[in-house]
Parts: sequence; structure tokens; C-alpha cells
Amino acid sequence: MIDRFNVVIIGAGAAGMMCAIEAGKRGKRVLILDHAKKIGEKIRISGGGRCNFTNINTDRDKFISSNPNFIISALTQYTYRDFTDLLDKYKVEFHEKKLGQLFCNNSAQQIIDMLKFECDINNVIIKDNININSICKKDDMYLTETNNSKYLAKSLVIATGGLSVPKIGASKFGYDIAKKFNLKIIQTYPALVPLTLNQASLEKHEGLAGVSFETRVSCDKTIFEEGMLFTHRGLSGPSILQISSYWQQGKKIQINLSPKFNILDYLNEKKKTNPKQEVYSIISEIIPKKLATMICNYLKISGKVADLSKMMMNEINKFIHHWNLVPEGTEGYRIAEVTKGGVDTRALSSQTMMSKNNRGLYFIGEVLDVTGHLGGYNFQWAWSSGYVAGQHV
Ligand code: FDA
Repeated sequence: MIDRFNVVIIGAGAAGMMCAIEAGKRGKRVLILDHAKKIGEKIRISGGGRCNFTNINTDRDKFISSNPNFIISALTQYTYRDFTDLLDKYKVEFHEKKLGQLFCNNSAQQIIDMLKFECDINNVIIKDNININSICKKDDMYLTETNNSKYLAKSLVIATGGLSVPKIGASKFGYDIAKKFNLKIIQTYPALVPLTLNQASLEKHEGLAGVSFETRVSCDKTIFEEGMLFTHRGLSGPSILQISSYWQQGKKIQINLSPKFNILDYLNEKKKTNPKQEVYSIISEIIPKKLATMICNYLKISGKVADLSKMMMNEINKFIHHWNLVPEGTEGYRIAEVTKGGVDTRALSSQTMMSKNNRGLYFIGEVLDVTGHLGGYNFQWAWSSGYVAGQHV
């Protein structure tokens, strides 16, 4: 028996649920299918359990895509204010943490509950724990076959997300469907992900795991000034996660360990005002003590600032302000927050999210070649693209 719907959505994540709610509001009969046992898991684990659900600074520059103008229409049609209005309606309290990042005051679960409730009141049917065997075109309809059912719909929406965190449901399904219908895939990479260092570098940084501080990290011309954290396997923290989206294998990154305070000026000042002060103690005034120890050991520095040669001062300056390193790799999709690359948006209408060559076939959310910076932008893309498709399916 074939069950007929107006819209079948694959993936009950942020984008899929938003699309379903909007289509449901328009009176469409909507079915969402998801293979996970529990839906909305990425929302639940996001933002340390409080979901950084959007950013008030959302604009085109906060996204990476090989077709950068594509996102403008959706981000304009559904803004961060539209989502905060929805939260206000449900009395979900939130706050700005920093840099425009909006987080729930209580729990990310409130957002999942709100979306599920909105699905419910708009008559959306959600089926989880469903294995999809095949999807094909039948006349001008899309036929989705699962283990025990067949669903036919005029609109099929692929909202299966990216490859990050497979243990909570990520799969390459969306890319396979895109290929089947002749859409191109832009090469995918783990993004917003910690970087790993080789054994020699790790030995150099031994004892620093857990040390965090403000840095300026750059890769080519891209710069981020946020926190950085040493880990047992390499580097993490917001500035590293951000730069990971721009880094490629073999490329160097440059780290300024003290972006707001110039060490050379400070050492020169100390030579005059406190020449007997230990160099280590001066350095540890501006960067964490463990890091100061590592630098002094590495550069074989000990003694008073009065005895510090110009050459050594330059070496310290180089290390602190222009530390170059080539990461060995990334921690991969296992813990990456997002996937860079994905379905090429050039094959879609930016007004509707529909494939230009496959009437009724839509792609939304992270499965697309649209990657937000850290800070709530990826969820905003999921809401905006889901909303837009929901108006047209
Ligand atoms: P999403 O991945 O949410 O949903 C896809 C759905 O499709 C899943 O339910 C999955 O089970 C289902 N699916 C996949 N394959 C399937 C198949 N073969 N058959 C059926 N169903 C299938 N972003 C942000 O803006 N702020 C934040 O705070 C964070 N924090 C964060 C933390 C962590 C740990 C991660 C991993 C990610 C984030 N993100 C984030 C990123 C954000 O979670 C992500 O960009 C959005 O959830 C993407 O929404 P989508 O709906 O596109 O995919």
C-alpha cells in the first residue's frame, strides 16, 4: 500500500522540522522520516546543552560557500528575530553570551519540545527509527520506500544534515540522493573541529593540555580573535575551531599568543623600570604561566631582563606574536561541529531551495554547501533554509 502525502521530509533535525512546521501551516499533509531513534539530537547536544540557536550578527560574511550569494535570500526571508519571536511565543528564555551569540537560559530541550509541539499542532507526522531503502521518481512524484512502507509525495525535502558526529545519526544519505538526481557535491571536510599536532610538537607542548587563553589565529588572510585551548592531541577552543573551517592539509597557521599586549614594548619598558625582574616572570604576566615556562625552556632563557640580548628579545617576540605551526590534521567528523562543502547550491533556486532541474526536490540545512562560523550561524541557516522551503513545498 502506498501512503500519499503532499510533502515527505527526510531528516527531523533543525531544518527538517522548521520546513515541516511551515508546510503544515499552509495546510499541507507532511511526513518526516528519520533513521535516528531520538530526533533533534544535534539541538540537544549543541551549545553545551543550551543551544546557541542563532546570532544577532547573522550576515553573508559569517558563512563559507562556493556560491556565497545563495544564502542572502533565505537569511532575509527568515531572520534571527523571526526565531526569537517564536521562542518568545513559547516563553523560552534566552540571553546573549558574547559576540551576538544567543543561548537558551535553561536547556536546549526546550527548543526541541517547541519544534515538536509546533509540528504536532500543524498536523505533521514524524516517524523515527525508520530505514529508508530507496527514493525514486514516479511520474511527477517522489516515491520513498522504507522497510515496511511506501510514501508518495509531490515534494521531497532532503534535510539529512552533514557528516559530523555519525554516532547520533549523521549519514551521507543526502549526498547520495543529490548525486542520484545529478546534483554536484562540493568536496566535504570536517569543520569547526579541533586541530591535531604531530608527535614532535606534542612533546614540545607537554604539560600544556587544559591551558586556555585569548589568541589571534590566522590562516592566509582569515583571522579570528577568540579563546584557544591546548589539548592532549593538539589545539582547540573557539579561535582554532573557527580557523579549522579555512585550514587545509599542509597549510600553516599563525598564532598570536598575546594579541592585545606587545611583549617587545613590555620587555623594553621593564629593562628600564625593573631590570632585575626575571624574564620568565615578565612573560607570565601576559600569558599563562605554563606557556611562559614552555617558551623559556624552548628558547633556553633564564635570568634577568637586564641581561636579555636584543636577539633573544626578538626570538621571544617571534614566538609570542608570530608562532607558526603546521597542524598534522583535524579530529575529523567524529567531533566536528559541522561539515564544510556539500550539495552545490548553484543547482538550486535561492528563493525556494528547490532543485532547478528536478521539480519538487528540495535540499535544506547543513547538507548544502553552506557552512556558518561558530556562534549560532549554522542553526540560523537551518531555520532560514527550512522556512523558505516550507513556503514552497
Ligand atoms: P541535523 O544534523 O540537525 O539533522 C539531520 C537529521 O537527518 C538527523 O536527525 C539525522 O538523524 C537524519 N538523517 C541523517 N541521515 C539519515 C538517513 N539516512 N535516513 C533518515 N534520516 C537521516 N550550530 C549552531 O548554530 N550553534 C551551536 O551551538 C551548535 N553546536 C553544535 C554542537 C555539536 C556537538 C555539533 C555536532 C553541532 C553543533 N552545531 C551548532 C551545528 C548544528 O547542530 C547543525 O549545523 C544543525 O543541526 C544542522 O541542522 P540540519 O537540520 O541541517 O541537520
